[in-house]
Amino acid sequence: MSLDRADITAATKPHEQLALHLAEGMEAVNALIAKRMESEHAPRIPQVTAHLVGAGGKRLRPMLTLAAAELCGYDGPYHIHLAATVEFIHTATLLHDDVVDESQQRRGRPTANLLWDNQSSVLVGDYLFARAFQLMVEPGNLRVLEILSNAAATIAEGEVLQLTAAQDLKTDESVYLKVVRGKTAALFSAATEAGGVLAGAEAEQVQALYDYGDALGIAFQIVDDLLDYAGDTKDTGKNIGDDFRERKLTLPVIKAVVKADTDERAFWVRCIEKGDQRDGDLEHAIALMTRHGTLEATRADALHWAARAKEAMQSLPDHPLRQMLTDLADYVVARLR
Ligand code: IPE
Ligand code: IPE
Ligand code: MG
Ligand code: MG
Repeated sequence: MSLDRADITAATKPHEQLALHLAEGMEAVNALIAKRMESEHAPRIPQVTAHLVGAGGKRLRPMLTLAAAELCGYDGPYHIHLAATVEFIHTATLLHDDVVDESQQRRGRPTANLLWDNQSSVLVGDYLFARAFQLMVEPGNLRVLEILSNAAATIAEGEVLQLTAAQDLKTDESVYLKVVRGKTAALFSAATEAGGVLAGAEAEQVQALYDYGDALGIAFQIVDDLLDYAGDTKDTGKNIGDDFRERKLTLPVIKAVVKADTDERAFWVRCIEKGDQRDGDLEHAIALMTRHGTLEATRADALHWAARAKEAMQSLPDHPLRQMLTDLADYVVARLR
């Protein structure tokens, strides 16, 4: 597909510009996802997967893979397989994550665990992970295989670390950073790094792509955690207050706990450590965060990571995609969903 520059400039948001630029590749990625989510014997698999995949999602991670590969001069065909791999891993983790978090809404729809059951979400998630591994082998590139399989392990590690850090008011910002680097940024950085490696890019460029994905992913998750308090269900397509209910030590809470006086500390101990939550507690938590400026401080941290992502882009080749990826870093902080 040939793209008019005017079309690209007319698309307002950076991820829309990326989607336009990568439209042909993303069509192939979506077709490959549709094909590989089939199952010969278990109809529950395509039912559950179609429910989630059909609800859309921003497809940020597969776009990152396509963009990184193209930016480094690759013109196919295996970037499609890697992009589909990355979205399969993402989809699998979402199915598992919504079970673990007991979430009821995702992408504006009831979660699969709510519509079917936890068993279906866990098992279909496992199937999609396995499908991702089948796909990542196909390019026949051992280094790419290493990057993506490492990412799968790191994501699970991050989710488990988060589980054990939840409900613990001693969790500090360094633990939080480990959690988000694992559960979220690992897939962003694998998505960009694998694209560069597939393209045969030089070590320095591969490192820059990794650094970009890592910083972008961290910024992205910080904002996700901010939106869990300061966002709106109609924008995010997810329930607000899930993290509070799950007693998670996300950045806005960690910062509020540090600033708490004696009464406020007692409130956090009751809600987060003891899990004794009452009507109005979420609103009170948000009021405390507002009073101490922790929501703004959290956004400032996200901006810091976005700036690091943009910095990493500077050592990549001059290309329209480089600007789009740079702008994307601003967008992840400004986004509503
Ligand atoms: C959701 O990711 C999981 C997080 C890492 C916060 P996205 O916000 O990219 O989800 P979709 O794919 O666009 O729904
Ligand atoms: C998302 O974590 C990370 C993974 C799915 C591995 P969250 O639990 O914070 O994301 P949402 O808010 O459910 O999308
Ligand atoms: Mg969740
Ligand atoms: Mg979670």
